Amino acid sequence: MDFKEITSAPINEAYKALRTNLQFCGFIKKFKTLAVVSSNPGEGKTTTVSNLAVVTAKSGIKVLVINADLRKASYVQGLSNYISGFADLKEIITPSRIENLTYIDSGSKPPNPTEILNSKVFSDLVTELKLVYDIIIIDTPAMGSVIDGAIVASLTEGTLIVTSPNKVSFNEFERLKIQLGKAKANILGVAMNNIPKDEYKKYYNRYYDMIEL
Ligand SMILES: Nc1ncnc2c1ncn2[C@@H]1O[C@H](COP(=O)(O)OP(=O)(O)O)[C@@H](O)[C@H]1O
Ligand SMILES: [Mg+2]
Repeated sequence: MDFKEITSAPINEAYKALRTNLQFCGFIKKFKTLAVVSSNPGEGKTTTVSNLAVVTAKSGIKVLVINADLRKASYVQGLSNYISGFADLKEIITPSRIENLTYIDSGSKPPNPTEILNSKVFSDLVTELKLVYDIIIIDTPAMGSVIDGAIVASLTEGTLIVTSPNKVSFNEFERLKIQLGKAKANILGVAMNNIPKDEYKKYYNRYYDMIEL
């Protein structure tokens, strides 16, 4: 995952608005862990995690991002290596070039991603890291084909659904909500990503917004 300064003012404002809306839901003050999920790949989960982490870290909050998309291996040791017992915590925690922003990448591609995320070692890790960081944002693989996102959502105190209007059908979105309901996820809202320019007005005249379900 690449953490970059957001150079476009409107985009920066849009992510700050997303952060503020999450704060209105109690994020940061009342609870610290957030899963970011979607139905399909390419809807913008990783982009949202990265930009939300950057704007939050820039406001002085200590942010940890965990890449729990174990379906995609990383070049460095990460979560899967730690949970399988092949890496220490200090080997997987990476500072980013943004102040206050730290990262744990996915690690080597494991044969059993779902079991890894379902493990006590993972939930214990999140509990332990909550003592060190102000917030933890967890990226996940798309929930359309694998259950990993729901497992992470059941573990975190809040869940943010990211959706792109042209990349998900009504039925897929319904299935996502049902699955998250079964996981007892605390759904905070939906971040609309990738709204076509001519449809801005329809969606509150903003590049990016969060609506309540
Ligand atoms: N609002 C946006 N405008 C332009 N490109 C975007 C936007 N959101 C995501 N992308 C691009 O779309 C691709 C998929 O986004 P990504 O965040 O990786 O999705 P996911 O993690 O849900 O699979 C990436 O190349 C990303 O840079
Ligand atoms: Mg992704």
